[in-house]
Amino acid sequence: MLKAENLHCVYTSGLIKTTRKTAVCGVDLEIFPGETVAIVGESGCGKSTLAKLLVQQLAPASGEVFFEGTKLTGMNWKNLRKYMGKIQLIPQNPDDVLDPRWTVERSVAEPFVIFGGFSREEISAKVDALFAEVGLSAEHKTRYPHELSGGELQRVVIARALALKPEILVCDEATSMLDVSVQAFILAVLKEIQKKRGLGLVFITHDLEAAKAVSDRVLVMYTGEIVEEGKGVFDRPLHPYTRALMDAVRYASLEVVLPEEVGPLPDGFSGCPYFRLCREKTDACKEPQKLRNVSGRLVRCWKAK
Ligand SMILES: Nc1ncnc2c1ncn2[C@@H]1O[C@H](COP(=O)(O)OP(=O)(O)OP(=O)(O)O)[C@@H](O)[C@H]1O
Ligand code: SF4
Ligand SMILES: [Mg+2]
Repeated sequence: MLKAENLHCVYTSGLIKTTRKTAVCGVDLEIFPGETVAIVGESGCGKSTLAKLLVQQLAPASGEVFFEGTKLTGMNWKNLRKYMGKIQLIPQNPDDVLDPRWTVERSVAEPFVIFGGFSREEISAKVDALFAEVGLSAEHKTRYPHELSGGELQRVVIARALALKPEILVCDEATSMLDVSVQAFILAVLKEIQKKRGLGLVFITHDLEAAKAVSDRVLVMYTGEIVEEGKGVFDRPLHPYTRALMDAVRYASLEVVLPEEVGPLPDGFSGCPYFRLCREKTDACKEPQKLRNVSGRLVRCWKAK
């Protein structure tokens, strides 16, 4: 349904001395209807950048995104509008999509107003149905964002994202600002909606337990690249980084969280991106590492078996 091929994204910053940062490097990804794919990896590994590339908020330096076979990258805005409702982003912070000066009812109604073709009564009925679908009552509608709890706000964001009948929801740390019980509730709401509507769900998170619980398939990212992808990743991790990430969560180790501390890779280094920190490295790891199939899993490490 949603397919990304060889996506690259490079950020350039600074006016006089410009620096370039490759945030996403050669990512291939496919999401099928009704499937939940979790994307995990440490802070700064490129998860949000990948999310923005998928929903067309960012244009890639190279690579393509397709929705049901139609190429979205490079499409002009007029044509792209038709597809934008189909792939919706749920960001970590509700402030990114809710205007603090508007009632939440107005924010949920906005996509219908922008797309046009609906009467006032039709919009009102659709907004009521969306509030009910995410478990909010009519009394919440006329409130402003600051008058709702974090969990209620996130449900408003989900209601708004559902307005134009999306087929894919990309949830970027959508529950990480909430306390644990509310997180579990929002996850349950999302899974229920997914089941009912047959949505594809991209679930970006730091929370490996949540990723394991909700997903059919997991993608592990490291410095902009997918290093491992498949089913049962956390039951039998094959890439040394996946194992280190799991240990970091289990033992609160900082080692994998701060790769910059060990300094940059030498100029021109084209070997394994995890080379600096990997405890299992050998000279053979200085060669480029492709994702390869290891018993149905994709792994970017020649040693994995
Ligand atoms: N607008 C930008 N300009 C320059 N660099 C950026 C920009 N946005 C992100 N980056 C850099 O790109 C890299 C990837 O950032 P991204 O936000 O995608 O990471 P992330 O995996 O979502 O991290 P987190 O888990 O902390 O949300 C980081 O090194 C970040 O500093
Ligand atoms: S290729 Fe080498 S450095 Fe990279 S993860 Fe595998 S063992 Fe470690
Ligand atoms: Mg992020």
